[in-house]
Amino acid sequence: MLTRAASCFVSRNKKRTVYTMGKKRIGILTSGGDCPGLNATIRGVARACFDEFGDDVKIIGIQNGYYGLINNIAREMEPREFSGILTMGGTILGTKRQPFKMISSIGEDNIDKVKQMKDTYKELKLDCLLTLGGNGTHKTANLLSQEGLNVIGLPKTIDNDIYGTDVTFGFHTAVDIATDVIDRLHTTAASHSRILMVEIMGNKAGWLTLYSGIAGGADAIIIPEIPYDIDKICQCLQKRSDSGHNFSIVAVAEGAFSKEEAKMKKKERAKARADAGITTATATIAQQIQAATGIETRVCVPGHMLRGGSPSAYDRILATRFGVRAAQLIADKKYGYSVAMIKSEIGENPLEEVAGKTKFVDPDGGYVQSAKALGISFGE
Ligand code: F6P
Repeated sequence: MLTRAASCFVSRNKKRTVYTMGKKRIGILTSGGDCPGLNATIRGVARACFDEFGDDVKIIGIQNGYYGLINNIAREMEPREFSGILTMGGTILGTKRQPFKMISSIGEDNIDKVKQMKDTYKELKLDCLLTLGGNGTHKTANLLSQEGLNVIGLPKTIDNDIYGTDVTFGFHTAVDIATDVIDRLHTTAASHSRILMVEIMGNKAGWLTLYSGIAGGADAIIIPEIPYDIDKICQCLQKRSDSGHNFSIVAVAEGAFSKEEAKMKKKERAKARADAGITTATATIAQQIQAATGIETRVCVPGHMLRGGSPSAYDRILATRFGVRAAQLIADKKYGYSVAMIKSEIGENPLEEVAGKTKFVDPDGGYVQSAKALGISFGE
């Protein structure tokens, strides 16, 4: 039996790979933007695997997502490394954005990254690979699965936009943080008789803005799924002001765009904004509101704070349950799936059915309808 007592990550170039043979070898990586709950998921997977397989399992941590898989930067992890991480934000494995386009094709660097990932999988003698990530991560996971690797995906993202799962881990923590931001903006907006706009992460989907906007009592919620009409936003805010409210709160998803911009291609839209000297929808809307209503308007961008810190109780439980399900799938040798919450039950979807699809807010769905029933404007 060979043993690698690795206390640090070892790269392919260093050629120091020694293995513990005869054990089930589970590779695990976190890819894309981080979020609270990644470590809770890693812990859930590890503890459930130790429970299921006892000493017959080795967990191989792959550093910085697919970058680590491409370059064989990985190490066998000790059971103690999975203790004390339930409450930790970020990821103990590190992460990196590796766009699917760059990974799946041979670029200027002339490196066949898919081949290298398959080589690493073989070199590490993995029985399976767990990929914790968002939409891009799932696309690559599906590709690797189609290439014959045993892959299981776990859905993370504060954006909650992974197709096929009711919810992703990280989302509810971010909703709590964004709601806290909106709560705090209320007092300063009211003190200064201002309109406070908050730009919330979510490039393609507006889930985080919608949930935190409702929870925080925003007066208008602007999301990419419902292109806005600036006149409608201004009318709603003017009406509030006329009826005696001295402040308003507007929650805007970072990926929001106007009805005019909806007719443009993405590049065209970016150029039009650059030409106007303002790059974000939030800043554009703020300027237009102030000009139209005369009410002093300010913008707050919590940005990456929405992804930071300890996971909420909800996310710790969700992450743990997803981790346990992944361990069950390994025990059943059921590969090529992504763990999911389906109609409030933990289950899984075939990777090929969910990879490459985005879960959008339904403009006619229950959440938007409830918000409208409260008088919240979507700028339509
Ligand atoms: O994690 C997803 C996300 O939060 C998006 O909402 C946002 O556009 C993006 O990450 C920004 O992340 P980064 O700065 O890491 O590229």
